[in-house]
Order: sequence, then C-alpha cells, then structure tokens
Amino acid sequence: MKTRFIGRQLKYLETTTSTQDIARELAGQGAAEGTAVIAGEQRSGRGRMGRTWLSPDGGLATSIILRPPLASVYLLPAITSVAVFRTLAKLGITAGIKWPNDVLIEGKKVCGILIENGLKAGEPVYSIVGIGINVNFDTVIYPEIADIATSLSVQLGHELAVGEVALRLYTELEDIYTRIGEPAYIIKEWSRHMVTIGQRVSADFYGNSIDGRAEGVNRQGNLVVRLADGSTKEIVAGDVTIANSNGGA
Ligand code: BTN
Repeated sequence: MKTRFIGRQLKYLETTTSTQDIARELAGQGAAEGTAVIAGEQRSGRGRMGRTWLSPDGGLATSIILRPPLASVYLLPAITSVAVFRTLAKLGITAGIKWPNDVLIEGKKVCGILIENGLKAGEPVYSIVGIGINVNFDTVIYPEIADIATSLSVQLGHELAVGEVALRLYTELEDIYTRIGEPAYIIKEWSRHMVTIGQRVSADFYGNSIDGRAEGVNRQGNLVVRLADGSTKEIVAGDVTIANSNGGA
C-alpha cells in the first residue's frame, strides 16, 4: 500500500449487506480517517436517490471514511469522480464524468458514487464515500442494467485484479483529496472530464422538469443549464438525463 492514510486500515468482507453500513459503524466507533471497507459482494448495495446498486462478485464495492472540513464536504462528489476517472485513465480506459458523479465509458455507466454524511447536531462529522465499479462481470447478463451499464472487463476484453484496481483508486483518491483546500483546482479538473457539458439535458428542478443545454458547473459545483428562453438555472442536486443517450442513469 503506497498511500499515507486511505486504505491503511482496511476491512475486507467476502460478502456483506452494504459497505456503507459497515463503514458508518466503524466511523461511529472513531475509526481513523481513510479507513476503508471493501466487499467481494453486497447483498443490499445501495445507490443514490433510493436506488439499489447491483453488486455481484467481480465488482469493486468500497466505502471510505473521510473527515473533511465542513465547508468542503460539497467537493466530495467532484474529488471522488476525478479519482475514479484518473484510475481508469491509468488502466488505459477513457471515461467521462456525468454530473454530478457517475463515471461512464462510451455513454454507459461503469461506476457509481454515493456520499453519505454522519451528522452531529445537524453538521457532518464524517463522510462515507461509497464507490462501486463494475470490474469483472458481464453486465449483459443482468437485464436491469444490460443496456445502460458496462464493466472494465467488457471494455478491455480481459479481467483485472479487483484488489489492484482498489489500490490504484485509493492512491488517486488520496492524491486529490489532499488538495481539498483548493476548490478551484478540483472544480476545474472535474469539469474538464465532464461529458454533460455542452449536451442537451433534462433535469428535475424543484419538482418541475426542465430542458436545456448544460453550459458548465459553477464554483459551488452546481450544473448551469441554459433554457430555451435564454435564462439559466443552476441544478444543485439530483440527476440529469442527457438527451439522445441513456445517460447512464
Ligand atoms: C449510484 O450510482 O447511485 C451510487 C452507487 C454507489 C455504490 C457503492 S458500492 C460501495 C458502496 N456501498 C453501497 O451500498 N453503495 C456504495
């Protein structure tokens, strides 16, 4: 392990419910920053917005405990998706980030990121960064994701050692996380690899659906969408669908 703190404390479970729950338990017991949980398989992997996350054997499912300064928690989706992007780049794979933090290869989702915060008196005291990467399984045999997802082995035509992918990921995550005090750098790196920018998108905006062209991300990480009437809206949270693609949703 070449990292200073991420993954130095590592809990491996062959199978579990969700690595998020195990990491949360450890964080509550005061586990050190960087403690990581990794599972071969999750029985109740979860995704953003109440969705389930398919997590069979051959996938990488990991949750990392971080304790960023409160004012920087909003940067975690950008930090994590850039770390995944760089990990894949080092494996020779060109990916893209779909706002806010899905990682896609040729329009298909290969990685999902779920960030959950542990609160005390309403304020985050730790963050659990959950990362699921489809490494070695054939997405085509799972009807629920066959059309919208891909995996590294499907892309590369051969399997990878999941542990090796995890180590590279921890290294990249640590590298960019240590620059959390440089928000402009992080937002720039994130938007540089964001495939959403320049595309026609639909998004839910306070219960209404809006359509427009994604122009960029602002300093807070919100997606700026130009509507047909020339006005702009800033999407703070949620998901967008990229027109004429499955959007990897
Ligand atoms: C999403 O795209 O909706 C986010 C998916 C996040 C999946 C990861 S796998 C490791 C961690 N444990 C979970 O139960 N979820 C996250």
